Amino acid sequence: MIVKPEVLVTRAVFPEVIARLSEHFQVDSNQSDETWNKAELIERLQGKAGVFTTGSERIDADVLAACPRLQICANMAVGYNNFDLDAMTDQGVLGTNAPDVLTQTTADFGFALLLAAARRVCESEHYLRAGQWRRWRYDMFAGAEVHGSTLGILGMGRIGQAIAKRGAMGFDMPVVYHNRSRLTPEIEAICGARYVSKEELLRTADHLVLVLPYSHQSHHAIGASELDQMKASATLVNIARGGIVDDAALADALRHGRLAAAGLDVFEGEPTVHPALLALKNVVLTPHIASATMPTRMTMAILAADNLIGFLTAGQAIAPLNPQVLSLPQHAQRKG
Ligand code: GLV
Repeated sequence: MIVKPEVLVTRAVFPEVIARLSEHFQVDSNQSDETWNKAELIERLQGKAGVFTTGSERIDADVLAACPRLQICANMAVGYNNFDLDAMTDQGVLGTNAPDVLTQTTADFGFALLLAAARRVCESEHYLRAGQWRRWRYDMFAGAEVHGSTLGILGMGRIGQAIAKRGAMGFDMPVVYHNRSRLTPEIEAICGARYVSKEELLRTADHLVLVLPYSHQSHHAIGASELDQMKASATLVNIARGGIVDDAALADALRHGRLAAAGLDVFEGEPTVHPALLALKNVVLTPHIASATMPTRMTMAILAADNLIGFLTAGQAIAPLNPQVLSLPQHAQRKG
């Protein structure tokens, strides 16, 4: 009798995805979506060859050391700052993510937040619902122009490029960007985007969208001094990761009129949100939902599942983060 490898799914996911995994594995899943601490996660991981994670479970060196049979961690997210990838590589564990499939959906949401913040959609809706709308006024909830204004993008990977195209082609916006590496002239032309220094980006953007990955280097990439360099009329949108923006400094800038508005989908220490942000009207706050459409979430979950299936059944993965693990000699590979 062939014994199927065991895998763990750490959070509730689509039943179809559990069914797909069950064709290949003995699946232990958390369909009741309990919150596990690190010790509980380690306990549930015992004997498991693979784990399906979302961006909220931290897989670090302690977890890897405590789970010697674990061979692959498959994230249902494009971001993977919940993984200690160096520790995974050191220990011969493959990490995978879910790139590409959420690019357009996430770019749509970046634009939704930009429009909502700049044009004061949520603030004016709350006013109306609170029964405060008695008379029209010429300057009521007058916001910032979006079309034709300068769109800045910090981080120009796939999602940044998709946002640039929306701005350049849909809203007639001059687009400037800054990134660790400059795009080729061909891709810049397709995106309608011009490379500038970070200083110029901060100084010239009417609306600045953050789409860079989180790392030690990008921690507080937007803090008090960067906010001071931005136009007081500008909008800041963060759909990247909490921790890239210093939320306390941002709340202070928004409160004192040094920045007009912000749209935030991610927060330092989420799901806790800085109380100073909660008290402000000129910020639109959403609970990390930029990729949340059912078709996209399904595709992300299937991609994570297929990474597990591909690796544990055939030694291949669709989206490996540390592909060097795939070519480790047999004796250096973890065994299930
Ligand atoms: C969402 O934040 C993701 O990284 O996919």
